[in-house]
Amino acid sequence: MPERSYVGLIGLGVMGENLAINIASHGYSISVYNRTTERTRDFEKRIPQSLNIKATYSVGDFIKSLERPRRVILMVKAGKPVDEVLTLLRPYLDAGDVVFDCGNSFFRDTERRQEELQGLGVIFMGVGVSGGEEGALKGPSIMVGGEESGYEQSRELWESIAAKADGEPCAGYMGRAGAGHFVKMTHNGIEYALLQLIAESYDIMTWGLGLSTAEARDVFAEWLDGELRSYLLEITVDALSYLDEETGKPLVELVLDKAEQKGTGKWTSQTALDLGIPTPSIDAAVVARIISSHKQLREKLSRKTVKPRLNELSYVEKEDLIENLKKAFHLSSILSYAQGLHLIKQASNEYSYGTDLINVVKVWRNGCIIRSNLLERIVKALGDDPSMENILLHREFIEIIAYEEQGLRSLLSVVKRLDTPTPVFDASLNYLIALRRGRLPASLIQALRDRFGSHGYERIDKPGRFHSSWR
Ligand SMILES: NC(=O)c1ccc[n+]([C@@H]2O[C@H](COP(=O)([O-])OP(=O)(O)OC[C@H]3O[C@@H](n4cnc5c(N)ncnc54)[C@H](OP(=O)(O)O)[C@@H]3O)[C@@H](O)[C@H]2O)c1
Repeated sequence: MPERSYVGLIGLGVMGENLAINIASHGYSISVYNRTTERTRDFEKRIPQSLNIKATYSVGDFIKSLERPRRVILMVKAGKPVDEVLTLLRPYLDAGDVVFDCGNSFFRDTERRQEELQGLGVIFMGVGVSGGEEGALKGPSIMVGGEESGYEQSRELWESIAAKADGEPCAGYMGRAGAGHFVKMTHNGIEYALLQLIAESYDIMTWGLGLSTAEARDVFAEWLDGELRSYLLEITVDALSYLDEETGKPLVELVLDKAEQKGTGKWTSQTALDLGIPTPSIDAAVVARIISSHKQLREKLSRKTVKPRLNELSYVEKEDLIENLKKAFHLSSILSYAQGLHLIKQASNEYSYGTDLINVVKVWRNGCIIRSNLLERIVKALGDDPSMENILLHREFIEIIAYEEQGLRSLLSVVKRLDTPTPVFDASLNYLIALRRGRLPASLIQALRDRFGSHGYERIDKPGRFHSSWR
């Protein structure tokens, strides 16, 4: 009887192949299967001798090759492919088997699949894996959600293959049901906001101030010293240094300016709207990508419309701008994380996930795309008061706001004269201003709603619900 594998993996795309090698490199035996046979054959040829990876060519053989209860990892395209693979697997699965969907599935789909498989006694776990190709191979950040028993059964595996931060594995239990995929979705939403903040900063420096790509790169490189250090800034410095072989120009200058998206940012915004949690920095980043995709319309409008005369920046304004940009970037990054964490907290309350925000932030400290030195400060703040509704309530962030808000405001007042769109910087400042105002003009909205729709209103000076004619 051949030795059975500890775990199986279906889907040998970019992520699946690298994850399989990572798992095997940590001493686990693993069987792999892929819908398209050539891909498996190609992978089989490249498997290093030292690794215990078994290629299989039918779902039946794949299942037979696994230890019981079986552990099956899915790393296929999100959406219909996950259902199609589950339809193939279902006849072979037994009670106690655990299936881990490690793709970017929508958390609602994960919850539906959990219910569908519950009848068979099969545990279906939604697992967010971040870190791209390199992370999958060398150590990703892993966000596991579903039945706690499914997590406990696989904990050792996730902890050993995950990235480490301060010796702690960046893998953890995010909570019940679709919590793993919810946290991953929100991670991607924050990623949208951070990427857009970097792009806006680059635009202010180059289009706005006329710096060269290399000069902008040097500014970003300076930001790497200290708390701003992050994976995204590190790869920004690399990307801005990269020259096109043919032309010798910075390659980024030759890249078409249409940002694509796979939908996780949009899901974050849609879900935040459903849950009534403000995530304006993430929303603005999603919209910015959509605007970028309308390249032809943008070009037509840029030819037809007349720009207003903009007053040149003074020497002093230019001098101050880079320093203000750094403060604005730091503060807006914090505001983006704050929005995402607020969303996760509310989802946990509403959907009874039981998510511990410290675990969330801890697993983001390494391996994932949004890893940043900043997260250490957030971990500490949450440690002081895990029940905070929003991390901005913590004194450390109140101090940062006091120190950096003026920089963000000054930046935005000046960049309006540079003709550079700054949707996420703007959204971040408006979020901050509105969120800390004790009184907002929503009072007038209530009055008007009552006038045209008799919706009623509450008063600040006495309890109850009121209606007036308003004329
Ligand atoms: N790439 C990243 O940086 C990244 C990071 C985190 C998470 N993810 C998520 O991880 C998952 C895999 O991503 P990837 O980048 O590895 O994708 P990929 O390279 O495009 O590979 C897709 C895999 O899905 C399989 N597949 C597609 N449709 C299928 C179907 N109907 N039935 C069975 N198998 C099917 C493909 O099999 P065939 O060979 O037969 O086509 C292939 O193995 C996705 O959910 C993605 O969103 C990706």
